[in-house]
Amino acid sequence: MDLDKLIRDRIRDVPDYPKPGVLFKDITPLLADHVAFAGVVDAIVNHHGRGTVDKIVGIEARGFILAAPVAYHFGAGFVPVRKKGKLPARSYEETYDLEYGTETIEMHADAFGPGDRVLIVDDVLATGGTARAAAELVRRAGGEVAGISVLLELSFLHGRDKLGNLDVHALVTV
Ligand code: PRP
Ligand code: MG
Repeated sequence: MDLDKLIRDRIRDVPDYPKPGVLFKDITPLLADHVAFAGVVDAIVNHHGRGTVDKIVGIEARGFILAAPVAYHFGAGFVPVRKKGKLPARSYEETYDLEYGTETIEMHADAFGPGDRVLIVDDVLATGGTARAAAELVRRAGGEVAGISVLLELSFLHGRDKLGNLDVHALVTV
């Protein structure tokens, strides 16, 4: 199975969404294809190897879709990073610039146990602001960032450059 082609063929470009000049990468055709969806989840888990991480962090909203099955397949726990105001208990927050606008995300302060190895999973790495903020939240909550896995990296936005020496893994790069 050519996973790279399977993925590329199922990511739809939507021009001028959510605002003029932005070319939106729509992963819903990929998610609707059970072979492609399972292939993506398996590839993320296989890249790192079962038993190498304790917790998977998923980033609201699109990151949740990939991170939850990855956590299940890993045999790891799932920790949500949510948009501001959605988590009920004591949380840390980070604010960052997006390709379009700004965003604040939060994570429960007690999300991790001592020494927890954490893999951050999201659908897209664009400017890197979201991933960097998520990594900072993991560190503040006492986790050790083992890496960041994304389905799609938009390399022309140089998000990787914001992530220092973190292990960044992208299934497909454009
Ligand atoms: C999108 C995408 C990533 C993030 C990447 O999320 O799902 O999480 O942007 O951008 P960055 O690398 O420039 O930070 P978005 O905030 O649009 O919201 P959603 O996942 O809730 O749709
Ligand atoms: Mg997102």
